[in-house]
Amino acid sequence: MNQIAQMPRVTPTWLGIREPADAAARSGELVALVRRHATAGPRPVFHDLGCGTGAMGRWLAAQLPGDQHWIMHDRDPDLLELAASDMIDKAADGSPVTVETRPGDVTELTAADLDGATLVTASALLDLLTRDEIERIAAACTGAGCPALLTLSVVGRVDLTPADPLDARVGAAFNAHQRRTVGDRSLLGPDAVEAAVDAFARHGARTYVRPSPWRLGPDQVELVSAWFVGWLAAAVEQDPELAVAAAGYSHRRLMDIAERRLEVVVHHQDLLARHE
Ligand SMILES: C[S@@+](CC[C@H](N)C(=O)[O-])C[C@H]1O[C@@H](n2cnc3c(N)ncnc32)[C@H](O)[C@@H]1O
Repeated sequence: MNQIAQMPRVTPTWLGIREPADAAARSGELVALVRRHATAGPRPVFHDLGCGTGAMGRWLAAQLPGDQHWIMHDRDPDLLELAASDMIDKAADGSPVTVETRPGDVTELTAADLDGATLVTASALLDLLTRDEIERIAAACTGAGCPALLTLSVVGRVDLTPADPLDARVGAAFNAHQRRTVGDRSLLGPDAVEAAVDAFARHGARTYVRPSPWRLGPDQVELVSAWFVGWLAAAVEQDPELAVAAAGYSHRRLMDIAERRLEVVVHHQDLLARHE
């Protein structure tokens, strides 16, 4: 089994719960910057890397006018099947949107694989990768001469209101988990955007970085609880000494969530890279 295949699989349920918050969080300013280029030419071709169930395509295709063809890439064939079946078939102005899928490891893509691409997109992918893998993606995009809109990378900052004395320790352990080593892959986690900015700049692209935080209110109980359970489990996996304190913390926070008094901001960044 290769090391990418050793990474835990993402469930369609989790992707479905987070999709509305992702859509609300991504930077509209970066879409505005890319819109003219993305709608030029007879039939723009978009490659979505690590597409999951296709949320990025559904979000962006609906904001762009004109014919579009989307090529969905993921290593998980079950998610790819959902990405194809659940893609929207009409653009913002009613023009047709078509879709195809490409299974495989997106970090192995070359400029030749992206030949003719109008735009490469990704969402919630970069922080799962290593420095070398991001370097290869930057080389492939810039080699193919297409811009890249890479959204929703974690930056290692979470604000919980009201605060709890254990928040900072759990947050630090979670960030360490994001930066863990799997086999010989050192994941970038919160360092991913900086690494991508450096990589694209080395290949001559200009980069724009914008904040794209999830701002989760007390009524978003399903997403806040699913996020919290995953966040705490990753922190305890990373720092098993947290386990005893985490039991009480988990109880307090799940009560806060059930009684609709917890607000959470999970900070992310979006990145647009393009030649100018
Ligand atoms: C957190 S999910 C995000 C999915 C989707 N972009 C979204 O925003 O809903 C990350 C996705 O990237 C895929 N993935 C991660 N590393 C990959 C790789 N090296 N090659 C192909 N797919 C990868 C996973 O299978 C998963 O579908």
